[in-house]
Amino acid sequence: MLRLLTLLVLLLISAVTASPFSPPSPIPLIIWHGLGDKYDSDGIKGVGELANKANPGTFVYNIRLSEDSETDARATFFGNLTEQIQQVCDDLSSHPILSTAPSVNALGFSQGGQFLRGYIQRCNKPPVKNLITFGSQHNGIAKYQSCAPGDWICKAWVALLRGNTWSSYAQSHLVPAQYYRSIDEETGEPSEEYLENSNFLADINNERKVKNKEYAEKLSSLDKFVMYMFEDDTTVIPKESAWFAQTNIASGEVIKLRDRVIYKEDWIGLKKLDEKGGLEFKTTPGGHMQFEDKILLEVFETYFSSKAAGWGGAKEWMQDIIEL
Ligand SMILES: *[C@@H]1O[C@H](CO)[C@@H](O)[C@H](O)[C@H]1NC(C)=O
Repeated sequence: MLRLLTLLVLLLISAVTASPFSPPSPIPLIIWHGLGDKYDSDGIKGVGELANKANPGTFVYNIRLSEDSETDARATFFGNLTEQIQQVCDDLSSHPILSTAPSVNALGFSQGGQFLRGYIQRCNKPPVKNLITFGSQHNGIAKYQSCAPGDWICKAWVALLRGNTWSSYAQSHLVPAQYYRSIDEETGEPSEEYLENSNFLADINNERKVKNKEYAEKLSSLDKFVMYMFEDDTTVIPKESAWFAQTNIASGEVIKLRDRVIYKEDWIGLKKLDEKGGLEFKTTPGGHMQFEDKILLEVFETYFSSKAAGWGGAKEWMQDIIEL
């Protein structure tokens, strides 16, 4: 009942503020921020404002693990990703507005990109229409980031990660360890310890013997999956992970997604998506997470416009509510 009331109030507000000739409303946008950031940071708020500049009336929800912003920032470093993704699934599927939207668009920054993929593959309620990721680690990381000289907290953190990556402690408590991926440098095959212990990436990329068919079905149901790689990214090692490529950091050899078995045998639906024209590989200048508003505006206009979404907006919402 409370939910219904909230919705009616929201609809009333949008009915009052909408002009009679307004174009169809854009579908909502969910944003998952990166490591060390928080859902209510100025940067993330600014992204939501840009989304509204490009597509006025966009309802934006910044994904969070806690309403308290410090706790939310902490959860980008510490936690069990299985539980974190489940919590986000529960939050979105019970959200008064998002749960009634026929679909949403999704934008992931850095690690938030692969976590959104986790949301899509495991839950997808509400379903994502277009997924855009910037500098994400879809094929994991092969090295932990280097720290600025004198940054002892960072150094202690990286030392903890390095020494314990495959321990059950790290795999259930330290976030980057759960998307660390190591390969046998001779054969290029994923390492045994990775396949055995990875709490997130080996599962979400369906690399184990037993495949989860739902992962491929859900991911290939996207309209578009657009992956941006930062041209001069030195934070993500290897940067080609943003495009699902595998880099052998010993030899420097890069195997592109379309030449990899995850694609050829279509473990997670990327081939199917590609064949229907839904997979895009893009680059953007600069280092990790360095970009101009211009790029984001272009992305929002190209992929998130209400024309691209083809959704009747409030009218359909109203219909859903009447049927409740
Ligand atoms: C992470 O959480 C899930 C769900 O609670 C649990 O089943 C799993 O064992 C945890 N992972 C690790 C590595 O402890």
